[in-house]
Amino acid sequence: MTDDDFRRTDDRFHQLSSVRRPPTPAPAPTASTAPAPAPSFDFDTPFDRTGTGSSKWARADAPGVIPMGLADMDLPGPPAVAEALAARARHRAYGYTVCDPTGRTLVADWYRARHGVEVDPDWVLLLPCGPRTALRILLETIRPQAPVLLPTPEWSGFAQLCRAMRLPHHELPLRPAPGGYRLPPGPFPRPAAAVLLSSPHNPSGRVWPSGAVRGLAAWAAESGALLVSDEVHGDLTHPGHHHPVAVTTAEPAHRSSVVTLNSVGKTFNCSGIPSSFVLVPDPALRARFTVALADYGLWEGGLLEQTVQRAALGAGGPWLDALLAHLVAARTRLTDRLGPAVRSAPQASYLLWLDAAALGLPAGDARAALLARCGLEASDGAEFGPGGAGALRLNYALPGRVLDTVLARLDRL
Ligand SMILES: Cc1ncc(COP(=O)(O)O)c(C=O)c1O
Repeated sequence: MTDDDFRRTDDRFHQLSSVRRPPTPAPAPTASTAPAPAPSFDFDTPFDRTGTGSSKWARADAPGVIPMGLADMDLPGPPAVAEALAARARHRAYGYTVCDPTGRTLVADWYRARHGVEVDPDWVLLLPCGPRTALRILLETIRPQAPVLLPTPEWSGFAQLCRAMRLPHHELPLRPAPGGYRLPPGPFPRPAAAVLLSSPHNPSGRVWPSGAVRGLAAWAAESGALLVSDEVHGDLTHPGHHHPVAVTTAEPAHRSSVVTLNSVGKTFNCSGIPSSFVLVPDPALRARFTVALADYGLWEGGLLEQTVQRAALGAGGPWLDALLAHLVAARTRLTDRLGPAVRSAPQASYLLWLDAAALGLPAGDARAALLARCGLEASDGAEFGPGGAGALRLNYALPGRVLDTVLARLDRL
């Protein structure tokens, strides 16, 4: 990486130079060579969020309701993130920051360690905004002249952004199949400017097969479109499944037509802190994106973003392993209990996509009926587009003891 690259965002904004860290000294050898005991994290005890302004809990509506709608976790995040924030907060100057380019290498190291893929640190843009804002800026960067394609059911943010930007968009209905949804085989409508895909899929937790993602990237390259793979749930892929990182899954010749979007928000339960990163292999698109970012007065290397991202990616791995074990156990308890009502067995994240009629709930008013009968608040499937009518999405990232209560309440169905 060159100095020019390091300066690419800072120059646009304040003519700041990048931070250069002194090399990290090698850790001193320790007397014992015995492996350190695995750290333990408490995902069982109820975790009170009262007084924290949690929007998930604000939606709960009534005392005693367990909110299972909004996608964040009622579980304590990694201690490393809390410690890093506290340590930074103790230094009482919170002025403008510059981008520490080692943050890009940290992202590449993360992908190598967690997903076994090689990401070029040059592809990485470290963003001081959440994924939704990053998507908006990306769409503004490419200025779609042709329709944007999105699968349905799909995370509602894509359609909301298209509507807010008055972009024409076409839905691609996903096909239900025994192992989970399938991407439509094509041919897709042409011309198209972009295809937006949540990968893994929100709402169903489906991990798309590598071949399907590779095929979409090939289609994008041939069609002059951009495949935007929103992978904010990708680091929550359950053991036994392989998450296809779109920019490295695409054939090298198609990479410049692909962008991967990710963030530490969902993975490490810090979505309230504006932070995300994009992997943009095409240097021209990267440069245009950086200009669009600067036009909003945003620049790579925000104070909170860097503090949280560095701590999460650098030290959050053991916590994430423990979290995934907890989520898989919770998923199994719920899918065993709800059986055929589960529309697609989750392979990632903490979202359960359910058929309301199979639960004995009225398809048109299932959310209200579940709330009234069981005191459980869910997301209405209709929010996810036409393919979501008659479904509910339940967030099961709950402490073990709260999940006991949820299972008991489901007996009231
Ligand atoms: C697939 C996907 N992308 C993006 C987001 C939005 O993230 P944020 O609102 O934190 O920017 C979400 C949130 O649920 C999501 O599920």
